[in-house]
Amino acid sequence: GTVVLAYSGGLDTSCILVWLKEEGYDVIAYLANIGQNEDFEAAREKAEVLGAKKVFIEDLRTQFVEEFIWPAVQANAVYEDRYLLGTAIARPCIARRQVEIARSEGAQYVSHGATGKGNDQIRFELTCYALYPEVKIIAPWRIPEFYNRFRGRKDLMEYAQKHGIPVPVTPKAPWSMDANFMHISYESGILEDPKNHAPDDLYLMTRNPQDSPNSPDRLEIEFRKGVPVKVTNLNDGTFKDIPLEIFSLLNEIGGKHGVGRIDIVENRFIGMKSRGIYETPGGTILLQAHLDIETFTMDKEVRRIKQGLSIKFSELVYNGFWFSPEGEFVQHCIAKSQENVDGRVQLSVFKGQVYILGRESPKSLYNEELVSMDVQGDYDPCDASGFIRINAVRLREHHRLQGFSSSK
Ligand code: ARG
Ligand code: SIN
Repeated sequence: GTVVLAYSGGLDTSCILVWLKEEGYDVIAYLANIGQNEDFEAAREKAEVLGAKKVFIEDLRTQFVEEFIWPAVQANAVYEDRYLLGTAIARPCIARRQVEIARSEGAQYVSHGATGKGNDQIRFELTCYALYPEVKIIAPWRIPEFYNRFRGRKDLMEYAQKHGIPVPVTPKAPWSMDANFMHISYESGILEDPKNHAPDDLYLMTRNPQDSPNSPDRLEIEFRKGVPVKVTNLNDGTFKDIPLEIFSLLNEIGGKHGVGRIDIVENRFIGMKSRGIYETPGGTILLQAHLDIETFTMDKEVRRIKQGLSIKFSELVYNGFWFSPEGEFVQHCIAKSQENVDGRVQLSVFKGQVYILGRESPKSLYNEELVSMDVQGDYDPCDASGFIRINAVRLREHHRLQGFSSSK
């Protein structure tokens, strides 16, 4: 049969490619460009040399931004109060294209290099089953003949040497990384001991705030329906209005000022806790700006319901259910909540922080006259006495029942 392998160009998936061939499969190598720093042409050549029947290098950056990052921004998607889901939203994007290729190439199988202990296997495979129900999945790291043969990096290196797989010349960092346009994550290796501090040279997207510039960058972000449509650098007046470039500029500014670093222990779907370090510079700026324009333009009670949906959405996405009935339902509701989330937020980015400076919107629900201390507006202060007394009914009854006072 034919298998479409999610190939990264690295040692693991190179060994998997050759191993699949040895097992008798025709292998199609598929490498998704979702904004990671990679020599894609070198990876293509490598896959060809290793005997891939065909190689697909797919530029998914724009769809990653528009169809995955933007909905996450609209949702204020955050897992367990801190993680902005950079890896979790990339998996359905990658796997969707993978099964498209499998279908069009008449391949019955797909394969990936995710381990048997993590979230990524679940996200890849749930997406594949959701979009290509008849697909068969080969997960080598869950196949005993594979993982018993490759018990560590040493075994992979030996296998590589024997099969003409180019062996990495630079020594591997003592942790594992996953990079895309949204973030870089760091896990395992020396980071597995949760009390070990990350060395400063780990971070590749953000500067240490200690060494970041001593003056801020001021930005204006314009939103339409909860999605950023324009970012202007107020320092020099330059702007971007193409999704890929908008996010790229935010990454650059956020990175320069050390925004969006976190070090957390999180709960994997599969049951164990894991320690992860993340840097999400552009995403962190957008989260702050979006929260601000959203509260400015959204009805109070709609906002409350939407806040609950946001937690639900984040868990669904983390657990791999981007493509699912409940995932689509929640995304639909969130999109509806964004209909009036239009306007501009001005902010400054400085020393690892995002400071909101001001906001304006044609859809603002803020009524300056209504809230003003100086004018009355369409409001009668006498009404507040009754409002407060009615709210106090329950409180007074509670206190009376406790027996602490005799109500008069
Ligand atoms: N723990 C994060 C998550 O589950 C990051 C996973 C990183 N994946 C990787 N293959 N290195 O989303
Ligand atoms: C992996 O297991 O491949 C990486 C970690 C994860 O998916 O959670």
